This record gives sequence, structure tokens and C-alpha cells, in this order.
Amino acid sequence: MKSRVDKLLAGAGFGSRRDIKRVLRERTFCVNGVPCRDPSFHVDPEHDQFELDGENWAFRARIYLMLNKPAGVVTSTADPVHRTVLDLLEEPWRGSDVFPVGRLDIDTRGLLLLTNDGALAHRLTSPKTGVEKKYLADLELPVDDDLFAEYARRFSEGVAFHNGHNCLPAKLERASKRLALTIEEGKYHQVKKMFRVVGNRVIGLERVSMGPLVLDPGLPPGAVRELTADEITGLREAVGLVDPE
Ligand code: URA
Repeated sequence: MKSRVDKLLAGAGFGSRRDIKRVLRERTFCVNGVPCRDPSFHVDPEHDQFELDGENWAFRARIYLMLNKPAGVVTSTADPVHRTVLDLLEEPWRGSDVFPVGRLDIDTRGLLLLTNDGALAHRLTSPKTGVEKKYLADLELPVDDDLFAEYARRFSEGVAFHNGHNCLPAKLERASKRLALTIEEGKYHQVKKMFRVVGNRVIGLERVSMGPLVLDPGLPPGAVRELTADEITGLREAVGLVDPE
């Protein structure tokens, strides 16, 4: 089936329409040996031959999905006991090669990115990239202003886990009845352990953002939607991946 070149390239992760115009202007994209600069040109991804900067380029659709993960499903591609986040996918994504980026505990809810863009996933989860993740936590013990100030100070200085790991500085804010903690790391049970260290206990946890990507408030728990072109571009730019390799 024929498709516009800009749609094809957007589906392959080249970014927004504006980005694609730039790619077509600044790089050499050939269709069946003929340079193509017109974003509205129609191509047949199954039969046409593509080259990018003189190299053969095989079209492979990149998929970027936002899931509002409910509690009770595991962040894994297969599990002998529990339902996994992939079990929540419906057509056309069911059975695709997407995988979860990072991990949320079985009882953690909220923003989970699923993609088959390995380079993006790698950068988003690499400790070197330091992408900020924001979590809203419900706590067992009430937190008055003095306690809040103490937690905020200790988190901003970087608390130490019992296993000796020193956490990077993190930001604590009030978010209505919950506390919002923004961290750059993704150690196992990171947020729960951080509150443990200061003497409290997380009884409910929801991730609401990862870098520039914010959980869509209109997405009910368990629902999935594709990222917009701007969201994809924002994520790629946040990790220094402007043009696909
Ligand atoms: N920190 C946690 O403790 N659990 C999560 O699921 C994510 C971050």
C-alpha cells in the first residue's frame, strides 16, 4: 500500500513533519535510485527500494506506545503467573515486537513507554543519560510541614540505601494529598526504598512522567495510545537522538 514519504519516515522514528522536511532537505533520501525531497511523494514501502545518504535503508515501522499501567500486571514480556503489560495490548500492536522501557513494580501504576526503538530505550534507561522520572507517592504515615522539609532536604542531599548505594539528589514536592518525587535513577524499588530510609512507607505509587513525556490524564488505567510525533521527537531530543541512525 502506498504511503506519503513523510508518513513513512515519521513511522520509522524520524520525528515530526518539520523534522522530516529537514531530513529530506539536508540528507539524501532516494526512492528506487531517484532523490526524493518532496514530503508528499507517495511510495510503496513493501516494494520500493530506499537509500539514505547512499546506504540501503530498510523500512521498519517504529512503534511508540503510552500505557497507563494498572496495578496487578508485571512489567515483563512473559510471566508464568501474572498478566504482563504486553497482555494489555490489542490489535494492531498485539504480537508486535514492542517491549517495556524500564520497569514498574507490580503494584505501581502509571506511565510506561512500550517501543521497539532499541536505541531510544537504551538511552532512556541508561544511568548515564539521567532522564528524570516523576512519581506520586501515597505514604503510610502523615507528613507535616517539618517532616516534609526534612525529607526534602535529605532527598536533595542524596540518601544512602542500607546496601551502601548512595542515591543521586532527588526533588520532593507536595502534589495535593500525595508527595511527588523526581529521581534520575531507576534502581530496583528505588522510590519505596528512599521513603523507607527516611522512616516512612509507600502504600501507593504512580509514575506520571519520564523526561518530557507526561502521562495523558485522559488515558484510563489499562489503556494504551500511540505517542504523538511531538512526544516522540521530545523524547528523542531529550536523550540526544535527533536523527535516527
Ligand atoms: N520505584 C519503586 O519503588 N517502584 C517502582 O515501580 C518504580 C520506582
